[in-house]
Amino acid sequence: MNILVLGSGGREHTFAYKITQSSLCDNLFVAPGNAGTREIATNIPIAVTDFSAIKNLVLEKNIEMVVVGPEDPLVQGISDYFAKDEGLKDVVVIGPSQEGARLEGSKEYAKEFLFRHNIPTAAYQSFDAETVNEGKQFLETLSAPYVLKADGLAAGKGVLILQNLEEAKLELENMLTNKKFGAASEKVVIEEFLDGIELSVFVLTDGKNYVTLPTAKDYKRIGEGDTGLNTGGMGAISPVPFANDAFMKKIEEQIIKPTVDGLAKENIDYKGFIFIGLIKVGNDPKVIEYNVRMGDPETEAVLPRVKTDLVELFNHVGAQTLDTVQLELDPRTATTVMTVSGGYPEAYEKGKEIKGLDTISGSESIIFHAGTTVNGDKVVTNGGRVIAITSFDEDFKGALKKSYNSIEKMHFDKMYYRKDLGFDL
Ligand code: AMP
Ligand code: GLY
Repeated sequence: MNILVLGSGGREHTFAYKITQSSLCDNLFVAPGNAGTREIATNIPIAVTDFSAIKNLVLEKNIEMVVVGPEDPLVQGISDYFAKDEGLKDVVVIGPSQEGARLEGSKEYAKEFLFRHNIPTAAYQSFDAETVNEGKQFLETLSAPYVLKADGLAAGKGVLILQNLEEAKLELENMLTNKKFGAASEKVVIEEFLDGIELSVFVLTDGKNYVTLPTAKDYKRIGEGDTGLNTGGMGAISPVPFANDAFMKKIEEQIIKPTVDGLAKENIDYKGFIFIGLIKVGNDPKVIEYNVRMGDPETEAVLPRVKTDLVELFNHVGAQTLDTVQLELDPRTATTVMTVSGGYPEAYEKGKEIKGLDTISGSESIIFHAGTTVNGDKVVTNGGRVIAITSFDEDFKGALKKSYNSIEKMHFDKMYYRKDLGFDL
């Protein structure tokens, strides 16, 4: 079968890496892809939200499966676009309908869904420009820190955690009245602060049945010791050592099952990944967010641990037969360390030659390209997050040692990475 992956990051390189290992895949296309996907698939320079160009590509290349990496095309309704088109309706799209994608596209929608299905999450209220004053009064009833969330997609920047009440009121005003995050902050969710350690669980569902993929922990801040600005993610560890069987059972019973059942009950067409961000408060999991796609860089640590054929899994999603699948996992720990451009997540330069990748041993680490492209015969940087290095070992310390060792063999001008992953475990 011919398959198309949409996206250009480390997550999509990992999808491509797993898909090309499957005997079910004849030809793999990635749009737009990066220098890493170019080595194992055919890159097509079209944007992930250019639905008509994607349609033409799918028809021209006889593509039977489309795996959607990022959230934007999902929130814009790519699955519905395929379902409604006579020529595309039989293509298996891995990614939920536009309605399902609202779980990520609107924080208020997600909170309402969580409450409707009695899924543990922080208490909240939402406000708009008309109710700024009520919002300020609500803040007065809470204690610090104050959690403010822009309702819509804000490129991972829409959550503010503030220590001071006056500052929280000011930021609420900035978001609602001055549209600090544009249309994304026309509504704001104010939430109870949850104190605990974070982890993520990943679920693949066909809308009725599901399989639970390995857990992962991501390191979002740019600086060591979890300091400085938020990034897309500086590294990941899978599995999360504190997510033992008893805790996973709670997650399954209290969160995963009611989420999938809730989608089915509400007739929401959902065939794809659910990425559930959790905080462990005491001994209990609480949901902080849903994403309707895989995480990046979590995918680079999670998917290499899945031994089951990924295309076969996706076929079961299309046929709604995931209940017949027994997932096979690599029991070892995988760690991913992300190398980034100097300056990221603020301004950074592109076009720096990446050297030494060919000196990294394949038996020690897997190289996943994130923000890369080619310039002549050189691989060069093309984004903030550049190369992810994944390694396996019996525990996360051993795996990290291999990843760090491999990173020492590669280089680009102003390369940076965090050397303290796992410090909190
Ligand atoms: P989100 O975009 O909802 O994942 O939020 C971004 C980050 O803000 C999360 O990864 C958490 O570190 C933090 N966060 C979000 N909601 C809460 C909350 N209710 N309590 C504490 N931290 C939170
Ligand atoms: N690493 C976090 C995310 O993909 O949203």
